[in-house]
Amino acid sequence: MTNLKWWQTALFYQIYPRSFADGNGDGIGDFIGMTAKLDYLKDLGVDAIWLSPHFPSPNWDWGYDVSDYCNVAPEYGTLDDFKLFLDETHQRGMRLILDLVLNHTSNEHAWFLESKSSRDNPKADWYVWADTPPNNWQSCFDGSAWTYVPERGQYYYHYFMKQQPDLNWRNPQVKQAMWDAVRFWLDLGVDGFRLDALGTIYEDPDLTPHDVPLTMVELRRLSDTAKTPAETRLRDKYWRDMFKHQWGGPGLHDLMKELRAILDEYEGDRMLVGEDDDIAYMGDGNDELQLVFNFPLMRTRQITPPHIRKNQKERLSQLDALPVRGWPCNTLGNHDCSRLHTAFGDRIHDAELARLNAALVLTLRGTPFFYNGEEIGMTDLLITDPSKLRDTMATWYYDQAVNELSVDAAEAADHAARMTRDKNRTPMQWSAAPNGGFSPLNVETWLPVHPNHAEGINVKDQKDNPASLLNYYKRLIHVRKSTPALVEGEYTPLAVRSQEYFAFLRTLGPSTAPLHGSAQGGQTVLVVLNYSDQRQAMKLKVSGFKTARVLFSSSGRSKADEALASLTVGAFEVLIAELKP
Ligand code: GLC
Repeated sequence: MTNLKWWQTALFYQIYPRSFADGNGDGIGDFIGMTAKLDYLKDLGVDAIWLSPHFPSPNWDWGYDVSDYCNVAPEYGTLDDFKLFLDETHQRGMRLILDLVLNHTSNEHAWFLESKSSRDNPKADWYVWADTPPNNWQSCFDGSAWTYVPERGQYYYHYFMKQQPDLNWRNPQVKQAMWDAVRFWLDLGVDGFRLDALGTIYEDPDLTPHDVPLTMVELRRLSDTAKTPAETRLRDKYWRDMFKHQWGGPGLHDLMKELRAILDEYEGDRMLVGEDDDIAYMGDGNDELQLVFNFPLMRTRQITPPHIRKNQKERLSQLDALPVRGWPCNTLGNHDCSRLHTAFGDRIHDAELARLNAALVLTLRGTPFFYNGEEIGMTDLLITDPSKLRDTMATWYYDQAVNELSVDAAEAADHAARMTRDKNRTPMQWSAAPNGGFSPLNVETWLPVHPNHAEGINVKDQKDNPASLLNYYKRLIHVRKSTPALVEGEYTPLAVRSQEYFAFLRTLGPSTAPLHGSAQGGQTVLVVLNYSDQRQAMKLKVSGFKTARVLFSSSGRSKADEALASLTVGAFEVLIAELKP
């Protein structure tokens, strides 16, 4: 039988709790709602859930400003509601990982309230304090990274917004308190954590100032106006330079080892996935995080065959070079970025490209992560009325642009609508009913429901339509699960010069133990993703194989055997075939 761990074979699905399912009809998602949707997730083929923060929070950053690490936000329910959700998840054979925000707390957390109350209270050193701002560091959300507190007559440091003070991780008591919280959830039975913004935990101890000649709002403005290659290069350089001293300071590897050791005390292969693409955070491959995301795959305007091949080459060689071979992890969307359907569309073939990209995440080597709603093709919603924005980062930018930079209000609103993360956090669209079946009619949902819920972008309409995106996802997930080579096979690119299609093999050698214990073990699977609007004749040659037995095709070709050498793929077709001699 296979030696793989559950997190290597699992398909993960990110739930953004505020927007997933409203069980009590108040316009906000909650645990009762989520629990009622577990059968939907099981039926889709989900194996594990990553739950974005569900802790009490004043919601300046919608849960990423935690005010109590061992409880549940009242708007989501009670701890008992959480336990029921966890239990029902496990009963269906699924796992649950939580979001762990280590870098900072809310400024309303009891630790911070105590720390800011005086210079000599027991928690005086739990955050990062200075008499005067020691440098020009910026908060990536709202201007200076140093905010004054009159009670102490001092400034505290915050990488994110001023409502998110950074913890002082050099203080052992901070570690102890946070590890207690980690144990609290592990004791309840959660299967692991997604580590939020881990790169920001330690800063440059020399507090080196940055040398970017712009304020934060000017940099954001430049991000909007940069057009020429020179301007975009400068923009990227400024973003890197502005924050490079506030990231990746010494100490993180030891900290991650400590955290990993705690998880390893528990049974059940509890796991950590980092919100970072740096493979260094996997340590030797077995002593820090189990997974980090392959963000470079999604850091592009367009997903193209050359981009994917380059990404895989770099990524897999780095992972392979770890002392204990690292396991990849792929995703094309989350609550911080434009939705897959919008981000990688070309406005003409968005639907076709979304299908190709879903297939990409499900067939590449590694653990796939989906973001809630992508399986029905939810798209970004541009909220052009600034008073309706909920993401503080965007409201701050809008106010600053208008008041400090005298940007025209309509132009600032337009930029705010595009940069805000509200656009990709709107409520899940369960049906064509008013409010998308998320909340009852006449309830004002916390963010507006995308009007396209009434045009087929919803679960109910897609469920019974065999041609829907939802059923496409289900079929593909099923093919992945029933094809061992797609889960654990090696990756070999084919036709490496094609600009139009991305073809590759996933190969499970006969010596490798098969996932489902099939008799002969070996399996070679061909995957072709045609990113062009033209039919492609591929003339593929794979030594030892003459026949392609079709396992899946997005163009409804019959599941017959085809001659490998004369195989063609239609425009935007996804083809998965098992190769035979
Ligand atoms: C991470 C989260 C993001 C949040 C930030 C601060 O990047 O994904 O949503 O705003 O950390 O916690």
